[in-house]
Amino acid sequence: MALKPTYPLYVANAARQPNADLAVTDKFTGEVATRVALADQAVIEEGIAAAVEAAGPMARLAAYERQAVLQHCVARFTERAEELAFALCVEAGKPIRDSRGEVGRLIDTFRIAAEESVRLTGEVQPLDISPRARGYQGMWKRVPIGPCSFISPFNFPLNLAAHKVAPAIAVGCPFVMKPASRTPLGALIIGEVLAETDLPKGAFSILPAHRDGADLFTTDDRLKLLSFTGSPAVGWDLKARAGKKKVVLELGGNAAVVIDADADLDDAVDRTIFGAFYQSGQSCIGVQRIIVHEKVYDAFRDRLVAKAKALVAGNPHDEATFIGPMIDEKEAARLEGWIAEALDRGATLLCGGTRDGAMLEATLLEGVAADTRLNREEAFGPVAFLIPFAEWDEAVRIVNDSRFGLQAGIFTRDIFKVLDAWDRIDVGGVIVNDVPSYRVDNMPYGGVKDSGLGREGVRFAMEDMTEIRNLVIRRRSP
Ligand code: SIN
Repeated sequence: MALKPTYPLYVANAARQPNADLAVTDKFTGEVATRVALADQAVIEEGIAAAVEAAGPMARLAAYERQAVLQHCVARFTERAEELAFALCVEAGKPIRDSRGEVGRLIDTFRIAAEESVRLTGEVQPLDISPRARGYQGMWKRVPIGPCSFISPFNFPLNLAAHKVAPAIAVGCPFVMKPASRTPLGALIIGEVLAETDLPKGAFSILPAHRDGADLFTTDDRLKLLSFTGSPAVGWDLKARAGKKKVVLELGGNAAVVIDADADLDDAVDRTIFGAFYQSGQSCIGVQRIIVHEKVYDAFRDRLVAKAKALVAGNPHDEATFIGPMIDEKEAARLEGWIAEALDRGATLLCGGTRDGAMLEATLLEGVAADTRLNREEAFGPVAFLIPFAEWDEAVRIVNDSRFGLQAGIFTRDIFKVLDAWDRIDVGGVIVNDVPSYRVDNMPYGGVKDSGLGREGVRFAMEDMTEIRNLVIRRRSP
């Protein structure tokens, strides 16, 4: 299997190859794997103008027409699954088994959107709540918000693009999308498949661009919603510059998992290994802080370290590989620096810690000081550390001692602790008997605090991409 030598961008539904200025590297070898057309300001402007023109025709599509587009995507992604997984494996360095998993989720996300596209309902609301409203009847429906702006990240080039594109089509919003410039292929292949459909001209533009040339995605007032997935620093800055548009931010975290004294330790170890190290920890809900009851701390730590040492690292194309490269050497060096800082401040290295280019070993530490970057910031790499606790309240306090709040995992058999965690842990989702890294694509997903605003999960994104339009009828005698 091979990538094409070049990939076009998509403007107003059509492929265009004005240049091949964006080199996409193979993240394992570091070599240029293919070249992609880069959008300049004029092309971005053209995409936005086309989306504005398409807003009416998109809003007028019947539900079955929107559904047919989404079903076409499901069929074509299924046919092209291996090609998509290969592209992900090259452009993101994502191990091939995880790449296939992401393709499966891409298909799920479009399938959910196809189902939801015919369920966009409203409500009939009696208004006669007082004498002044006697005879008045209300009802509301959802209408598309209009042209949307999407910026998607490098870590799930297909599925996190899908979480914006599929709901937009499901509700009838045209969009312009800027995929991550290090991993544009996934979104461009989605564009190739959308170009096979009868979507009204201007319905979509997929425009790889460098961040400094892409301000219009944020600032153009004709765009009614900005949905961004990426780093907290960038996301909050975009929100400050987004003007009047609605903003949805899916940002990062330093997710915690709590292992209580009654947990099934072998199961908790296996799931924590997955949560901390899958796709080299480059997930916003990757396990970073492992909070373990003191009664089981030593046993849990020893088993966790043994499993982490046994993880197979290497070429992401090998079926056996679990840990591939990070997205680039700069990111791996940044995290290596955070490990060094934690060690300088008294932490103990339990395993890993060594870097070779963009490959960073699965790394576990304990005794990490509270005010280190490894504790306070989002690691976004294959590094996690253990913290002991004695009392349940202390575990809750440690989880909440973060400026982030995306998801948290709790391993316990105690239903009262589950309900307490659900009440008191300040995150978008609590996952019981699994790691915070668990996500299915129809569930509400998003964060509080610095982790973001709004929820994805198809139905929830569809709500963001629509406005409620009310209708009030004053009844008169016929
Ligand atoms: C993310 O990194 O925010 C997405 C995680 C996922 O979709 O599994």
